[in-house]
Amino acid sequence: MDTVVSGIRSTGKLHLGNYFGALKNFVKMQNENHCYFFIADYHSLTTHPTPENLHENVKQVLAEYLACGIDPEVATVFLQSDIPEIPELYLLLNMNSYIGELERTTSFKDKVRLQPDNVNAGLLTYPVLMATDIIIHKASKVPVGKDQEQNLEMTRKFARRFNNMYKVDYFPEPTAYNFGETLVKIPGLDGSGKMGKSEGNAVYLTDSPGVIRKKVMKAVTDSGPTKMNQDPSEPIKNLFTIMQVVSEAQTFDYFKEQYKNCSIRYGDLKKQLAEDIIKFTDPLRTRFEELYSDNDYLGRIVNMGAEKARQSASQTLKEVREIIGFKKF
Ligand code: TRP
Repeated sequence: MDTVVSGIRSTGKLHLGNYFGALKNFVKMQNENHCYFFIADYHSLTTHPTPENLHENVKQVLAEYLACGIDPEVATVFLQSDIPEIPELYLLLNMNSYIGELERTTSFKDKVRLQPDNVNAGLLTYPVLMATDIIIHKASKVPVGKDQEQNLEMTRKFARRFNNMYKVDYFPEPTAYNFGETLVKIPGLDGSGKMGKSEGNAVYLTDSPGVIRKKVMKAVTDSGPTKMNQDPSEPIKNLFTIMQVVSEAQTFDYFKEQYKNCSIRYGDLKKQLAEDIIKFTDPLRTRFEELYSDNDYLGRIVNMGAEKARQSASQTLKEVREIIGFKKF
């Protein structure tokens, strides 16, 4: 059993790409490991410093994760901002993190370009806070996408540096959690590239049936196959990729065949795809709505999670303070 930490940014709703690209597998992961799932609400302040939607966003993400099957009785589910030991370890790690290495990280350079008027110190030390989230539970595995690999590399560096500086073998150096082959990259509805929030090509898990139909009917296609057995163009391939994960195998085969023999009507394909997405997301949305409107329940979940997470975090802090040399008189 590995200890796994997964942080979730609290800015933005989940789409089909998030689900099939990771979340779906979290359910299995939580049963096979000691999992900590938390909402990185401090991290969100590096890009969204004012509180307009802070609480609603946290609640949205929390309810979505629970709706997708994360089980707070099995895993530890908590909010980053509920754990005072996190800022404490973050402070200590900041003393051994160097401006040069932080300035060189890709995500920092990207953010400088994206928000030149708000290059705050939190952005610079984002990887230190992320490393804190992970090593505070002495985790050995972290499920990360490509965009987070460098941050995980930095986490290993900070863990290793701590061990070397204080001549201990205390923090494990965490590596990426490997889901095997089961992850599917979901493309967007705009003809090319993957589904993403900022691309505006996503179907959200909480979209209503009406919105889903509208989005799918507007998906980019082409002018249709002209030769038997021809390879589909990217926009059509993309629709088939989505169909493969949400529709029955029979449905998928039927439309594939129609494409091959050039009798396909994209309108029919899209109608079917929309209905199958709705069928798939419907139970998730229903569960989400129940959870979202049950403040008492959500409150109990995060309180329970904070208590569990703090047990592990405070143990680490106690040991770290001893290792660094803080002593009582
Ligand atoms: N940086 C991660 C992201 O943008 C979120 C995150 C914060 C995280 N702390 C973490 C992920 C710790 C894994 C572990 O997606």
